[in-house]
Amino acid sequence: MSTMKQSNRKRSSTDFPQGFVWGVAAASYQVEGAAREDGRGPSIWDTFSRKPGKVLHGHTGDVSVDQYHRYEEDVQLMHELGVASYRFSIAWPRVQPAGSGAINPAGLDYYRRLSDALHARGIQTTATLYHWDLPQPLEDAGGWPVRDTAYRFAEYSRVCFEALGDHVDRWITLNEPWCSSVLGYLEGVHAPGCTDRSAAWAAAHHLMLGHGLAVQAYRSGPGAQPDAAPIGITLNLESPRPATRRPEDLEAADRWIDLRSRFFLDPLLGRPYPERHFASYPDHTPPPVQTGDMATIAVPIDFLGVNFYHEPVVAADPSHPEGFRCAESHHETTDMGWPITPRGLYRHLKWVWQTTEGRYPLFITENGCAMPDTLTPDGERCHDPRRVAYLREHFSAALDAVEDGVDLRGYFVWSLIDNFEWAYGYEKRFGIVYADYVNGRRVRKDSFYYLREVISGAETL
Ligand code: FCB
Repeated sequence: MSTMKQSNRKRSSTDFPQGFVWGVAAASYQVEGAAREDGRGPSIWDTFSRKPGKVLHGHTGDVSVDQYHRYEEDVQLMHELGVASYRFSIAWPRVQPAGSGAINPAGLDYYRRLSDALHARGIQTTATLYHWDLPQPLEDAGGWPVRDTAYRFAEYSRVCFEALGDHVDRWITLNEPWCSSVLGYLEGVHAPGCTDRSAAWAAAHHLMLGHGLAVQAYRSGPGAQPDAAPIGITLNLESPRPATRRPEDLEAADRWIDLRSRFFLDPLLGRPYPERHFASYPDHTPPPVQTGDMATIAVPIDFLGVNFYHEPVVAADPSHPEGFRCAESHHETTDMGWPITPRGLYRHLKWVWQTTEGRYPLFITENGCAMPDTLTPDGERCHDPRRVAYLREHFSAALDAVEDGVDLRGYFVWSLIDNFEWAYGYEKRFGIVYADYVNGRRVRKDSFYYLREVISGAETL
């Protein structure tokens, strides 16, 4: 276990390696709005958010912060921040409304306009192909538990590579396939809201297969270019701490890693899915792996995206269906109830780097916190000192990992602006810019100015 570093020297963002990418992140369904405009088809989140009781207050992404119409304003905010890159996602139902077949040129045009606006201000584009908004017709045909969806994803990805290849500086195939599969098909708290263990692990396999097929298409299909932009995947890996050193808690933490991390990481590294996980559930059938699938998933990528919000503490608990649970924490928590654990980021980056044997450079593709932010009475400012502290501590922890040899290439703060936080609707605010959902007005929070100074090197870490 590491100890807190004691350094007398003042550090700043200039201590990160040359070319370090500072960025902000968001995702299509969470910020775009314009859900029925210019030929966009319905996604599973349009459907799910309309089911009573699924999203807090019945919120939907229909309008959100309307980035579809207000992207110029948001690009201007990013320009002010001085970020090197914006991580956004491409809405599959905008590009290919039925999930297969006809392409919607107006959808592709939106991402060209957005990219042009970013490039005009010197901001690189980091585009995620799938951040959870599956076209509804594909769900109607079975969704991710069905193998065909992986092929449809590869086909849609190829369309994006061909149409947007000269607009995108960095590609990410999937965002957090654990959430798409487990929250979506096992726990039912995300779209499409199913609760079927076997379906969830079939979904997970088909997501990973879709990732591999998309990377293969990128490397070898028509239009593939040798000097093409790098491509990777973003995972929400977890490397929890056991609640105690008792063998049962150590075992629980290790099983947690199987479920949350190894299931997604091992196949990328050319290893089989972690076996013992399957054996422990009587109602479980192993993922439907066919010959050649594991080689497809293991096709080399150029970087690994790491999303980090907190470090769980895990305890054995025989009364729990999984046999373990998240233990109570003494840490202060965010508005999501997530403990604030910056040293966990340091440990996690080192764990990922060691587990992947340094094979891929890493990017933090999401990190940030929800806080109960409010505007000042004049409506002009938003003081969010706890977010400033959260970011400072996490930036510093990331720098410690870099100094220990982790090849971290960039850091994207989640999020540029408050947005639709999935099952929590607009209740949770993750932005460094405050969104007034009544009129769409954007108000820079203190953390916005803080990040600007970090990026410029003026702020010490
Ligand atoms: C991640 C998601 C992102 C956002 C943050 C808070 O799991 O990728 O869309 O909701 O959590």
